[in-house]
Amino acid sequence: MKILNFGSLNIDHVYRVDHFVRKGETISSKSLTLFCGGKGLNQSVALGRAGVEVWHAGSIGKDGKILLDMLASANVDSSCVAVLEEVRTGNAIIQNDSEGDNCIILYGGANRQITKRQVDETLAGFSAGDFLVLQNEINELAYIVQRAYEKGMKIVLNPSPMDEKVLEVNLKLIDWFVLNEIEAGQLTGSTNLKSDKLISLLRDKFPQAKIVLTLGTLGSCYADAERVVTQGIYPVKTVDTTAAGDTFTGYFLAGVVQGRSVEESLDLAARASAIAVSRLGAAHSIPAMEEVLNDRAYDLLS
Ligand code: RIB
Repeated sequence: MKILNFGSLNIDHVYRVDHFVRKGETISSKSLTLFCGGKGLNQSVALGRAGVEVWHAGSIGKDGKILLDMLASANVDSSCVAVLEEVRTGNAIIQNDSEGDNCIILYGGANRQITKRQVDETLAGFSAGDFLVLQNEINELAYIVQRAYEKGMKIVLNPSPMDEKVLEVNLKLIDWFVLNEIEAGQLTGSTNLKSDKLISLLRDKFPQAKIVLTLGTLGSCYADAERVVTQGIYPVKTVDTTAAGDTFTGYFLAGVVQGRSVEESLDLAARASAIAVSRLGAAHSIPAMEEVLNDRAYDLLS
């Protein structure tokens, strides 16, 4: 079984600020640091650092070679990443405030130049039973889902960032959703529901799918037609929440493809994302499996 992640690759410009800039306001930042990011790349790095063999597909410009180095350093195969001549690599402007929260502006760049031909050529290397991991930062999402389904691949969708493009996808073809409460609310057309209600709506709407719902400081839960499994968080001092969700997604899926139980996979994901929020940056903050399995790490970070 192979794992393909068809997703974004960004250069993140992270500005540390006391508070997020308000309408009409000009503020100075305390620092600017460039990091490798993009929800797609982050999830591939998490899978790779968790010890899973993963292929990343997507597009960058000639200014994005550092992203290929990052994938290589995490043992991710980047042979399906196209390097485009005339387009800039995707980037993100990220404000990181004194509480470790962030807000993000995306520029899609090469992430939004995916062609149907690239999709077909990439999927030709994969077959029935292989996993396909997707987020919502590239174009042609609906086409990728349709073609992967026709091949019999197992499709995992993290519908983030949520927008109308997700609703163009045939969501009945998704085998796994990994999503947060806001995304779940938008997918089910509901607001301010408790997690058990949200789970029940998601199960009704997508009976074919397994669902992993992240709940911020309340932890996470898994649900399928038969059962619900809950998981708490590992509390740590928050430095930067960027890529915490991506780390969770990558590590949870790593657990699943490594044959671990859902309980173990959720625990692994909670541990890994706790370490990620204790560090600045996106891909850079994602731990390796040996750190995640080291129980002493969490005491030191809390
Ligand atoms: O999920 C975090 C990521 O979102 C950042 O790395 C940024 O590039 C945006 O894609």
